[in-house]
Amino acid sequence: MSLKRVFEPIEIGGITIPNRIARAGHGTHLGRGTYNEDIVAYHLARAKGGCGLSVVDSASVHPSSKITLANQDDAIIPGFQTLMRAVRPHGMRVFHQLYHGGHITPGEDGAPGWSASAIPSPVTGAPALAMSTGQIGEVVNAFADAAARCREGMLDGVEVHAAHGYLLHQFLSPLTNHRTDLYGGPIENRMRFLREVLVAIRAKVSRDIAVGVRVSASAAPGGVTEADLNFVLHQLQRENLIDYVSASYGDYSDIGATVGAMDRPVGYQLPSVSQTLADLTIPRMITGRYRTLEDAEQALREGAGDLVSMVRAHIADPDIVRKSKAGHSDRVRPCIGCNQGCIGGLIRDARIGCLVNPTAGHERTQSEDDFPSPVHKRRVVIVGGGPAGMEAARRCAVAGHHVILMEAAPQLGGMAAIARRASGFHAIGDILDWLEREMYRLGVDVRLSTYADADTVRNEAPDVVVIATGATALEPLWVSNGTQATQAMRHSPVMSSIDAIMSPQGTKGRTALVYDDVGHFEAVAVTETLLERGIAVTFATPFSSPFPYVQTTSRAHGILRKWALRNVELVENTTIHTMDDDTFVTDSGREIQADMAVFVTQKSANDDLYQNLSQSIVDLHLIGDAHTAGDIQTAIRAGAEIARKISSSKPISMIG
Ligand SMILES: Cc1cc2nc3c(=O)[nH]c(=O)nc-3n(C[C@H](O)[C@H](O)[C@H](O)COP(=O)(O)O)c2cc1C
Ligand code: SF4
Repeated sequence: MSLKRVFEPIEIGGITIPNRIARAGHGTHLGRGTYNEDIVAYHLARAKGGCGLSVVDSASVHPSSKITLANQDDAIIPGFQTLMRAVRPHGMRVFHQLYHGGHITPGEDGAPGWSASAIPSPVTGAPALAMSTGQIGEVVNAFADAAARCREGMLDGVEVHAAHGYLLHQFLSPLTNHRTDLYGGPIENRMRFLREVLVAIRAKVSRDIAVGVRVSASAAPGGVTEADLNFVLHQLQRENLIDYVSASYGDYSDIGATVGAMDRPVGYQLPSVSQTLADLTIPRMITGRYRTLEDAEQALREGAGDLVSMVRAHIADPDIVRKSKAGHSDRVRPCIGCNQGCIGGLIRDARIGCLVNPTAGHERTQSEDDFPSPVHKRRVVIVGGGPAGMEAARRCAVAGHHVILMEAAPQLGGMAAIARRASGFHAIGDILDWLEREMYRLGVDVRLSTYADADTVRNEAPDVVVIATGATALEPLWVSNGTQATQAMRHSPVMSSIDAIMSPQGTKGRTALVYDDVGHFEAVAVTETLLERGIAVTFATPFSSPFPYVQTTSRAHGILRKWALRNVELVENTTIHTMDDDTFVTDSGREIQADMAVFVTQKSANDDLYQNLSQSIVDLHLIGDAHTAGDIQTAIRAGAEIARKISSSKPISMIG
């Protein structure tokens, strides 16, 4: 599809946006409370990449709501100015998202969050403080003051966050607004607070900067509806209080609806958003797993919106617009909708990251282009064509080294090539296909069906060798009777996750036990695949909650909801003690009947080749699962890190 509409400029409140591709508001936690160099570098990379409009960094406008960034006094203004001086030359327009979390977050002093009514927070469980009209007025003024600081900071606009279950959404939603005063009851009253905020902002900044609002219908029944929001938006538009609207979907009842994962299709929010936005004439920003500019072009041509937000697509590849405009859409590194590095990173590492892009969140110190020029061009042999090996090969090739990639299987991908076959996990294939395309584009000498032993490697006379040969699933040693376990594993009803996913004919019977000793996506993938084949699953695990390493709010909750509907039985805090044909006995003596069982077990590193080469190859490296078992994110990061190390060090023969 030719890209035309995406590159048309559009005007929002007197501000010209150079193209139709935006990044909706998203927290990064990079700033540690301010606009430091990390956060400026993060946005600058996307400005250089050609993004038209960025709504940056939700900031709390009032101390009764605590998040990492605060827009509550003038201390933020120099940070805004630094950001704008950096990005301005690249043409990207910048709006700032003004936020109050309501009962989702406590106040800065730890006091209960403020809300419409004194109902418990879905996050902290603590009852909220029902706001007085005086407190409402205080927050209205805080929003207006925050907007004025954005103008002082040379920003192009502000966006009021009235979506996703935060304070203004809590007032809009009958589920959280039980008030009987002028702020409760019919939608005309429930929107009063939002309207007052926008009136105050307009009074403060006039038309000097653009003013918009972000809204989302509730995913839960009984919440704020699309019809409610459409009424609100028409009212705000009529009064000239907003210059644009950013439409999203969902709230804290289902974060997975807001940040849809790989099991949701492109544009999955449109059924809701099209009703929310019906018949509006102001510019409309839409969102929802748009991954390519071709996706966005299609949505624009269909009139679904006037701008298309692509948040995670930009996290995965900051250069998505520039590459696509240059006719290289196939070079765009795809977001796979895993939510592990971005949303998961905020919670796990307290900073944004990305499974496919190890540079995300580290733009100040790293980029794809910062390899030293190949003065020390080397012959690099990489053994193992999984994500770790391919990323190492890709980056070494970018740096100008001569790279040979040996893979024993007839195709690249390693274990991830199996994961992509699992039901609902096909998007993993997007990053594998991209890495593979990059191998050939960059001239990596790929040798498939090549089982490399020590001689094979030495015969290549390499300067550097990287071993990325992965890991093999262990037999389940946790079973008390190891001999019996080993026999059972060889008994046909017991299989590994690889066999379960790859051989449908092997997964016979109507019932299965999935035993998860790892706690990550592997057992989820197996279970989803078995369910898809019509097999009823009992899911047992030694962990106190199922798959604890899967991102909780946007992935695990949705998976568990789906499994509840499919009657998956969860057995936590358990190990399998003995097994006898179709009876599996837990450590507490419970008997689980199943026609077959899949054991998802810990992995043992395939490091024999590394050991065999350690005496003869000096510049030898072990990475990925062959070093330490992990996931695709740790594998890709390991590949990137070793390439950086190889490219920034002198050849060993030159040392000394
Ligand atoms: C890491 C991360 C942080 C987010 N934080 C916010 C936020 O602070 N405010 C907001 O309105 N939306 C936030 N979102 C939601 C995004 O704006 C967007 O609606 C969502 O990611 C779906 O769009 P996409 O498919 O283009 O990624 C966040 C999303 C991600 C991935
Ligand atoms: S971590 Fe996953 S979902 Fe998030 S941007 Fe990266 S690939 Fe996309």
